[in-house]
Amino acid sequence: MATSRLKVVLDQERSYDIRVGCKLLENLGTHLRELSSAKKAVIITDSNVGSLYLETTKKALVEAEFEVYDLTIPAGEESKNIEVATELWDALAMLNIGRDGLLLALGGGVVGDITGFIAATYMRGIDFVQLPTSLLAMVDSSVGGKTAINISAGKNLVGSFYQPIYVAADLDTLVTLPDAEWDNGFAEIAKSAIIDGGEFYEWVLNNVSSLVAHDDDALKQVIVRALTFKARVVIADEKESGLRECLNYGHTFAHALEQVSGYSISHGKAVAEGMRFAARLAVEVIGSSNDFVKAQDDLFDAIGLSPVAESFSSDELFECMFGDKKVRGGNLRFVFACGPGEWKVEIVDPDLAKIYIILWEQARM
Ligand code: NAD
Ligand code: GLY
Repeated sequence: MATSRLKVVLDQERSYDIRVGCKLLENLGTHLRELSSAKKAVIITDSNVGSLYLETTKKALVEAEFEVYDLTIPAGEESKNIEVATELWDALAMLNIGRDGLLLALGGGVVGDITGFIAATYMRGIDFVQLPTSLLAMVDSSVGGKTAINISAGKNLVGSFYQPIYVAADLDTLVTLPDAEWDNGFAEIAKSAIIDGGEFYEWVLNNVSSLVAHDDDALKQVIVRALTFKARVVIADEKESGLRECLNYGHTFAHALEQVSGYSISHGKAVAEGMRFAARLAVEVIGSSNDFVKAQDDLFDAIGLSPVAESFSSDELFECMFGDKKVRGGNLRFVFACGPGEWKVEIVDPDLAKIYIILWEQARM
């Protein structure tokens, strides 16, 4: 399968290549040598991904004459916190990694987000590379430079915009992705397709069965389509002062759901539920049609994103929603889609949002 290449063009110093294809980890070294003169390279991975792909990645870097180190964090969202970040900063200092060092994030969105955060902050910023291994990370989190950790007040509340110097999505790694993780990627794919609309949306509708069958060619195509869309948005609005907000579709409710569930509801599943929630609220707030609510539900059902069945306290969900980054000036802001390719951000009356959250809770009792 041929490797696809995309580019995120920001400014001369911060533009970077994205590659999507096979055998990218084992052939990583040569290309990285062209991009980086670092002597020391540190691979940050998690306990699941490390046991599968660390050796291949290390070998490729050693062959390209990097002095290679690796740091492994426990797998899971619970690792995206300040304690783990402190351990990583300390470990880098112990290894004498200077500003000329290179970090590589080998894993899913958790490893990508925390490694990006470490890269942005250690020595006031060192280069890093994204090597996404989950579908979610391949279609979304590895590109665009959002780095973050969670704090007790909420998800992703501490972080920065800090771009990688290179992204390589090696499709071979998807072979070991656990069944439960595919939904997370499909949720972000559905989000991007709905927001982009047009050809991307139609393509997803027409290829759902190939996607759920994990057909190699369909997966590659959808990753390239999703990243093409994401790169376009990030190039136009890197720091989310307008257009990039569209990528938060479903996220206002999703972040609250993740937090209230103690992160037992994964990011992708929460985003899918958040889009279901937002679409229903949109009928009331912006007068969008119930036909779109149904079309969206049908797409989610077909791609295997079933509604969240557990119930959570509406009071807690409401409180968490107000901690969300999308609250500005005390206003509760929602990204709404009213059809494929049609979206807008609206301020929502908190009392109305509360009613919809109570309805959501009651429907699950
Ligand atoms: P994750 O990183 O926790 O990975 C999911 C699980 O799959 C983990 O247990 C991991 O070890 C395992 N795994 C990953 N790749 C594997 C592989 N190839 N083989 C076997 N196991 C593998 O979760 P995720 O869904 O990848 O990412 C979710 C995170 O991404 C959340 O923290 C979310 O906030 C963040 N995110 C960030 C952005 C952004 O723009 N920065 C966008 C979307 C989501
Ligand atoms: N996943 C949201 C963003 O990158 O902006």
